[in-house]
Amino acid sequence: MQAIVYTTYGSPDVLQLNDVEKPTPKDNEVLVKVHAASANPADWHLMRAEPFLARLENGLLQPKNTKLGADVAGRVEAVGRNVTQFHVGDDVFGSMPLNQLGGFAEYVCASEELLALKPARMTFEQAAAVPLAAFTALQGLRDKGQIQPGQRVLINGASGGVGTFAVQIAKSFGTEVTGVCSTRNVDMVRSIGADHVIDYTQADFTKNGQRYDLIFDAVGNRSVSDFKRALSPNGICAVAGFTSLSRLFQVMLLGGKKIGMMETAKANKKDLVFIKELLEAGKVVPVIDRCYPLREVPEAIRYLEAGHARGKVVITVEQNNKT
Ligand SMILES: NC(=O)c1ccc[n+]([C@@H]2O[C@H](COP(=O)([O-])OP(=O)(O)OC[C@H]3O[C@@H](n4cnc5c(N)ncnc54)[C@H](OP(=O)(O)O)[C@@H]3O)[C@@H](O)[C@H]2O)c1
Repeated sequence: MQAIVYTTYGSPDVLQLNDVEKPTPKDNEVLVKVHAASANPADWHLMRAEPFLARLENGLLQPKNTKLGADVAGRVEAVGRNVTQFHVGDDVFGSMPLNQLGGFAEYVCASEELLALKPARMTFEQAAAVPLAAFTALQGLRDKGQIQPGQRVLINGASGGVGTFAVQIAKSFGTEVTGVCSTRNVDMVRSIGADHVIDYTQADFTKNGQRYDLIFDAVGNRSVSDFKRALSPNGICAVAGFTSLSRLFQVMLLGGKKIGMMETAKANKKDLVFIKELLEAGKVVPVIDRCYPLREVPEAIRYLEAGHARGKVVITVEQNNKT
């Protein structure tokens, strides 16, 4: 089969479309013929081994797992002998853990505990756009952020892969949502349900006198004192990303109990089913910026790395019956 592989850390130039062995499912795994995948910042962090700590996970000098791609949607081609929840021919979607990426390929094996049936009315591209970004938004808002109905919630980075899910998931919890994005994305962020939108090129949400019960930061470009100014007295700030190591360490060391990094989002069946129900109810609709074919994963990653994706960057895997 064909897959995007990298054998050395570096820029998107290290990514190659190669013929590799088709994987075989273990007893608890499902072999999925991938129809679509989606790109996440985790892909370029691992590809570049940035920050350096990524090397502790995936090999000091060169990558141990040479594949990328967490999110997939596709059709079950084979099942391991202990698999009970899926059958050959089922359409599924889900996300692989960061140490087992492999979605940028024609086939991937995944534990049945990490997959769910694809909502029937969604395309493979739409379904593949969802898992990791939606897990991050849900786990950041619910677990770190302790979201409650009626709260005033601010989403920084509301127009990105994670932010577009965070706006919609926060609305589904019955909150009043303010999204922060640049001028060209204001209408889109309003269209996915934000009650208020702040254009960060025109105004600074930490200096407008407003206070929020929960801030979910999907950018990681603000200081702890910025957050303190914008939080209500018992407010919580959940930070998902960071734009520099100094920002990361500042939040970790000076944030205290209320301002902190969320844990790395974890793929799991319970949350996937929760998100699937939001999708089926029409409460969450994935926003897709661009679709690239499998051979153009390097361009897709280059685009994502530039930091201005509008929703998700999706990879369409052409179906080649020879594989
Ligand atoms: N903790 C975890 O488990 C976890 C999981 C997934 C992702 N993350 C992290 O979460 C962050 C977001 O991920 P993502 O997939 O959403 O990335 P993304 O899709 O690349 O985010 C791009 C978005 O960021 C917005 N943005 C850039 N500068 C901004 C600014 N100054 N103020 C407000 N918005 C700004 C852009 O909007 P404009 O074009 O309008 O500027 C764009 O829409 C990343 O740092 C990622 O590493 C963490």
